[in-house]
Amino acid sequence: MPAKTSFSWDKARRRRFGVWRYRELLPINDDIEPVTMCEGGTPLIRVNRAVNGNVYVKFEGGNPTGSFKDRGMTVGVTIAKHLGVEGVVVASTGNTAASAAAYAARAGLKCVVVLPRGGVARGKLAQSLLHGAKIVEVDGVFDDALEEVFTEAVINGKRDLYPLNSYNPWRLEGQKTIAFEIVDELSEVPEAVVVPVGNAGNISAIWKGFKELYNYGLINKLPKMIGVQAEGAAPLVATWKTGSNALIEVEKPQTIASAIRIGKPVNWLKALNAVKESGGVFITVSDNEILEGVKDLARYEGIGVEPASAASLAGYRKAVEMGLIDRNGLAVLIATGHALKDPDTITKYFSY
Ligand code: F0G
Repeated sequence: MPAKTSFSWDKARRRRFGVWRYRELLPINDDIEPVTMCEGGTPLIRVNRAVNGNVYVKFEGGNPTGSFKDRGMTVGVTIAKHLGVEGVVVASTGNTAASAAAYAARAGLKCVVVLPRGGVARGKLAQSLLHGAKIVEVDGVFDDALEEVFTEAVINGKRDLYPLNSYNPWRLEGQKTIAFEIVDELSEVPEAVVVPVGNAGNISAIWKGFKELYNYGLINKLPKMIGVQAEGAAPLVATWKTGSNALIEVEKPQTIASAIRIGKPVNWLKALNAVKESGGVFITVSDNEILEGVKDLARYEGIGVEPASAASLAGYRKAVEMGLIDRNGLAVLIATGHALKDPDTITKYFSY
């Protein structure tokens, strides 16, 4: 028997826009005022020419700071403000930082972003500067930056800065609304949802969203979750292939898609369980396949995405080719961030 909930789609449609439209499905008391910029409610765009098939792109570049991170950040910063902390801190490949900087500014909180030196795309760095975040650069990759935040904020217990990386459950609560919107807009559950994977929070969150709808009796089937990583930064694919119960870390992750250049994803176990439970799969794509995806989304569909986001199109193509998902089945590709995030890669590879 599914559990009961007071939630109904009709009621929700009369409510706020985006993430907060699903408030009854977020574990947040009614008296807490959200720190919001109407994030979510992003376009779900039918793919016409880039692939043959029944495929939609969920264009998360349509969020206020240009990536899906805003969904988690509206919830995370709402809680941070409610807790009365002085500020927030995140490690980031760029998008989390940009989003934290903007939402912290809106909430009147300090923001510290810890970034891998030289590893953040220019648009994202500019956003953190624009919104007045304090920038700390570490030598190394994202994993080193995250370790720094974790050690300082969690182990050393510096409580003035609230850590908002995706091991913070509130972030995932916001990001799960991607699943709600997909069902809300399509009025059905896709066969597959294809997600670029870095720190593995988003794929875990989206699966959580579908599972909740299922458990509440609001949908009666679940999609396969397809997690896509870049060849040079694919710890979850390596772990998946060996069937290991311990993460196979990648010491020096490398890919053109700087957003997902991550070797030790913090949410690896959640993501592994999500993909397994859904009957899905983890696969890799090459940097060339990613760039091909960027180009095809831009030139056949008019959709401008940053490289990491195109991993979902590249991954979809590969999964169909390998017979892992049905060519005619309904699929949703999560396009996680906007093309303007990474102007250098675009001008380098798409020169005139
Ligand atoms: N796509 C983009 C554009 C991202 O920025 C990220 C993550 C992902 C995909 C992967 O999502 O980590 O939940 O598996 N960016 C993080 C950041 C790591 O710091 O902005 P994930």
